[in-house]
Amino acid sequence: MARIPLAPLSDLTQARYVIHLSDGKRLVLFRLPTIEPAKNGTQTQNETPTSANANGNANAKTHTNTKPSKARNDANGWSYYAMEAECPHAGGPMQDSAIDIEDSAYVVSCPWHAYDFNVETGESSVGIKACTFPVDVTAEGEGETRMVAVEYVSEREGWDEGVGLVKLEAVSETMKLKKGSTISTTAKTNPNPKTGEMGVGEDDGPVRYLDDNATVCEWCAHILNTSHPEHKIELTAHLFKIFTEREGTTSAMVIGDRSSVTLPDLPPRDGVKDVTRGAVPKPGRGGTQKSRINMLHALANIEQWAIDLAVDICVRFAQFQTTETQPQGLPRAFFHDWLKVANDEAKHFSLLRTRLEELGSYFGALPVHHGLWEAATSTAHDLRARISIIALVHEARGLDVNPVTIDKFRKAGDGESVDTLEIIHNDEITHVTTGHRWLTWICGQEDTDPVQVFRGNVQKYYRGPLREPFNEEARLQAGLDRSYYEDLVGYQPYQSAPAPA
Ligand code: FES
Repeated sequence: MARIPLAPLSDLTQARYVIHLSDGKRLVLFRLPTIEPAKNGTQTQNETPTSANANGNANAKTHTNTKPSKARNDANGWSYYAMEAECPHAGGPMQDSAIDIEDSAYVVSCPWHAYDFNVETGESSVGIKACTFPVDVTAEGEGETRMVAVEYVSEREGWDEGVGLVKLEAVSETMKLKKGSTISTTAKTNPNPKTGEMGVGEDDGPVRYLDDNATVCEWCAHILNTSHPEHKIELTAHLFKIFTEREGTTSAMVIGDRSSVTLPDLPPRDGVKDVTRGAVPKPGRGGTQKSRINMLHALANIEQWAIDLAVDICVRFAQFQTTETQPQGLPRAFFHDWLKVANDEAKHFSLLRTRLEELGSYFGALPVHHGLWEAATSTAHDLRARISIIALVHEARGLDVNPVTIDKFRKAGDGESVDTLEIIHNDEITHVTTGHRWLTWICGQEDTDPVQVFRGNVQKYYRGPLREPFNEEARLQAGLDRSYYEDLVGYQPYQSAPAPA
């Protein structure tokens, strides 16, 4: 067994890190508030985390077991755990897992198919087990620096001894908000100070937050009606944070009623020129900086629409009922999953906007189109159709295209953009998984076949054939085997799309 020092305790401030080892293996280091046994026999936490959010704060689901935490170490109120980074089910990214407390132990759920694993023992309720590794904190060296180290046994031949740390990489969930982003829902469009061109202003007034009693529907409608992109991403991140923090507590957010809010026909946009799809500049092949800026700009536009699509699905279908003898409403997990998607899309927009600025451009410098929203409008009457077209056609198409785009940036030596695009690609797999999960759930309730429901919706609401080549591996990771998309053709171009019911 090798004891591998990772970092001084004082350097670790994030909730999750990826540990890259010299034998090629990757682990996830979780830094979580220590669960302590309470005097009355229940469990408490010595910090104040309450949610299963992306920052590692744990959702206090159950606190009834008297079994003390068996955390290997407890330093300054934090416990450290190491687990293999690839999910043992099908390789999902465990660094992106959701974190809960169940029976007084931390449980992480894989983002791809939601298998849950005890972060200390690796045990799962589905019977498979993830590899976990003891972590300790000890004082070392002359200055008695407290070091965090992992005890590791390599399964790879020839690596019994001598495995070392290659890199410790923080998993950033941080939204790249603009400094002092305090802008209003009626934000103005300002000229770029350098060029005089029209762009989005940064000092247009405060973000408008709703009060503590606002429902999920009210928040989603507010985000849809917010025209300034910096406001939109800030509000979206805030909504996901408060939803997860309050979930499982006595102040869990009320989902609310779709009929009590006003949804825009077309969500407003500040700082961009909206044109038809054909009038958007062609991205080129990525060989020049101008071409790469075009690509990043087009992607940032898609991500901003994707925020709206994810919050729209929560509010528009809040009262959805399955069609069976005993109709079912949507479980709260549905809203959690799509708010997580919205939060990811906001993060993606912030990363792309930041990258554009690093390259000397800005979001709003080029015209954009709203084709994705048109797809949302034609499926606004049916949740099954909405999931089929937006998540399982358009988002799945992203899985096909992303590796090609990433390759273009890599060939151009633009490593920073590659890093951004890889974060986006990995998240997008989980978004297709979310679509597959909820279409499958609805079909399970209604005793229908999700493959047939999906194919039927594509034939009705998508024009032309699904474009090849398909990224079969990424699609399969998201739950889509070939039976979903093989030889699938939507309605013909000379036909018009059917009017929404
Ligand atoms: S649950 Fe992790 S890959 Fe399926």
